[in-house]
Order: sequence, then structure tokens, then C-alpha cells
Amino acid sequence: MREVDRVIGLRLSSSVPLIGQISQYIIAAGGKRLRPALLLLISGALGYKEPHRHTLAAVVELIHTATLLHDDVVDASTLRRGRATANETFGNPASVLVGDFLHSRSFQMMVETGSMRVMEILSEATNIIAEGEVLQLMNMHDASLSEQDYLRVIRSKTAKLFEASARLGAVLAEAPPLIEEACATYGQALGTAFQIIDDVLDYDGNAAEMGKNLGDDLREGKATLPLIAAMERGTAEQAELIRQAIEEGSTDNLHSIIDVVKQTGALEVAKVAASREAERAVAAISTLAPSPYRDSMTVLASQLIDRRH
Ligand code: IPE
Ligand code: IPE
Ligand code: MG
Ligand code: MG
Repeated sequence: MREVDRVIGLRLSSSVPLIGQISQYIIAAGGKRLRPALLLLISGALGYKEPHRHTLAAVVELIHTATLLHDDVVDASTLRRGRATANETFGNPASVLVGDFLHSRSFQMMVETGSMRVMEILSEATNIIAEGEVLQLMNMHDASLSEQDYLRVIRSKTAKLFEASARLGAVLAEAPPLIEEACATYGQALGTAFQIIDDVLDYDGNAAEMGKNLGDDLREGKATLPLIAAMERGTAEQAELIRQAIEEGSTDNLHSIIDVVKQTGALEVAKVAASREAERAVAAISTLAPSPYRDSMTVLASQLIDRRH
């Protein structure tokens, strides 16, 4: 992971100072570096040790960082990784454009691997992420969204990059097709669980721990699983309170809504859904040979369910 950070640092250079400044600003703020970790764990589990693993791990983190720069503009978020978002500090235009720079830099880097498969996986993943974000935009303020509709968005916007990161680890190691699919399934299920918990934390978390503000999803009128489950399980009045808030994108009743989400057991419903995905992830890698890497992948799946940030 240290090597991945070194590669990222080397690749942020540009003769345009604002690019380095904004990229440093968000990357130096930290982040869990989960997607590169996934790629390294899987390539490690499959015995691959070449330097391309660091290049591609840096690539998936840069793609993630670019989507965060764009996502915070779209969501009008003001706090990320414990500091003011780039859009808050440098403005929306600079965030969008530097996001584009990081995206295209990641494409320059993936070409260096010389692998058509790698480019195919990453171009498909970035395209699906964009599709997921647009789908979510279309779903804004729609309180009639089903769990299925919700899952479709999160499998695209979040799980797809986890899936690609995991699959790349297997592709680098030239794993047989069944093992590659098992790794991809692990990433996809883990990414789905991860986003469900992210959506739980938007109602049940702590801004200081998360480094992000609570209630951003409600303000954007996002019908995430905690709200969908609360509307299903609550009384008619409770469901109406939530419906109105989604339609108006208002956080005026955030505290009452958090109470409803908690009282109706909606958070547990979401956590159970996340746990099922985490179990599916762990089941998928049972075909991999036992190793400390595989053990870490199992531990990671349960840590992501219990996480507070
Ligand atoms: C944030 O991802 C965006 C989501 C998919 C929820 P992370 O929670 O992995 O962000 P960092 O990189 O750790 O800040
Ligand atoms: C993250 O979704 C989506 C992508 C990273 C594309 P969110 O909007 O829920 O992520 P946070 O909460 O801002 O990190
Ligand atoms: Mg967001
Ligand atoms: Mg969120």
C-alpha cells in the first residue's frame, strides 16, 4: 500500500499548479484505500508479484478519487475525509475539471500495462459508474423507489469499481476463468455491502468519525435502503413524513426521520441486507487456496459491516 501511495504521488504531477494542489488536497486527506487493497489482496492470494499490481492499484484509487470530486459537486457536499470538500474550497468548476484530469491520467496509466483485458475491464467499469450516477440523478426525489431500483443504482455506482478492482487482481495473475469470476463476485458483493452500510451511516453515523456530514442523502432526496425499509415498516404518518422529505429534499425533519428509521428497525433491515452480501462475498472466495491474503479478505468483509467510517 505504501508503494501504491508512492506511485499515486509520482503521477499527480502537472505543469498546471492547480491540478497538483487539488489532487494533493483530496489524496493527502487519506481515505481507506479499499479498492487498491482489494486488488493487492487478490493478486497476492493468486501469487502475482509484478510491479503492474501497484500501477493498477493506483489506477483504481485515482478513478475513485475522480468520482469523489464529481460526486461531491453533484451532491453539493461540504465535508469529505474530515476536511472541506474540494468543491467547497476551490469551487465546482475546478473540482469537475481536476476530476477529469485524474480520470484521464488513470487511463494513461492503464494503457502502460499493454493489456487489452485490463483496458476493457476499466473502461467498462467507469462507464457503468457514470451510468449509475446518472440513474441516481433520475431517481432523485422519487419516494416510490423499490429496493430493486436502489440495488441497481448501488451495484453500478459503487460495486462496479470494487468488482473491477478484484477482477484485475485475478487478471494480472492470469487466473482461470472460474477463479476470476469468483474474485469478481467477491468484489461486487463486498461493494454492495459497503454502499448499504454507507447509506446506513448517513442516518446512524457520526460526522467526526466519518469525516462526512450526516443527512446529505436526505437533502439530495435519495431514497436509500434505510428510508425504503422505514416507509415499508412504519405507520402511515411515519411513511408520509419520509415521503415528503424525499420529495422536497428537505432535512428540516432530519431528527424525527432518524427516530423513525431507528424505531422501525429499518437500520437492522439494511444491516441484514449488507451482511447477506458480505456472506456472499466470503462464500465466493472459498474456492481460492487458503492463504493469509484470503484470510484478510474474509476479515475485511466483516469489518466493512461493522465500520463506523
Ligand atoms: C466513498 O467511498 C464513496 C462510496 C462509495 C460510499 P469510501 O468510503 O471508500 O471513501 P474513502 O476513499 O475511504 O474516503
Ligand atoms: C458514492 O455515493 C458514489 C460514488 C462514489 C460514485 P455517495 O454519494 O453515497 O457517497 P458519499 O456518501 O458522498 O461518500
Ligand atoms: Mg455523495
Ligand atoms: Mg453516502
